[in-house]
Amino acid sequence: DTIYVLNGPNLNLLGLREPEIYGSATMDDIAGMLEDRARELGVEVDVRQSNHEGHLVDWLHEAQAQGARAVLLNAAAYTHTSIALLDAIRAINVPVIEVHLSDPKTREEFRHISFVGMAAVQTVEGLGAHGYVVALDAAASLPASG
Ligand code: DQA
Repeated sequence: DTIYVLNGPNLNLLGLREPEIYGSATMDDIAGMLEDRARELGVEVDVRQSNHEGHLVDWLHEAQAQGARAVLLNAAAYTHTSIALLDAIRAINVPVIEVHLSDPKTREEFRHISFVGMAAVQTVEGLGAHGYVVALDAAASLPASG
């Protein structure tokens, strides 16, 4: 009944990285917020980060194999480039909720396309670190998938 929280490239640098865009919370801070909220919701979260596209693909497959309840996915820049992630999301039955700290639609043109968004059941963006908690609440209230 675990909810996977998968984070893509450069998100290990959160807190240091362009804080005017992404805020001051670190990935550890976000993991802590999610664990607190998960306890209240009675769900488990598994928070991971990788700079490697294939790891994200493998983890989506793993979410399916492990019967995960949902995936929160901030694929970072791979959002805008990765047909492999689009295909992986389509290949699994586990619902994927797309998350972004910033609102890519208000930024450079090259961030306006989202391959993740083409297959995600929902998108939470522009809410900073709190968006992950909003997405977790949404994931916990999704109907059970088969
Ligand atoms: C991001 C937005 C992406 O465009 C960017 O490449 C990131 C972070 C976000 O959380 O706002 O690395 O996914």
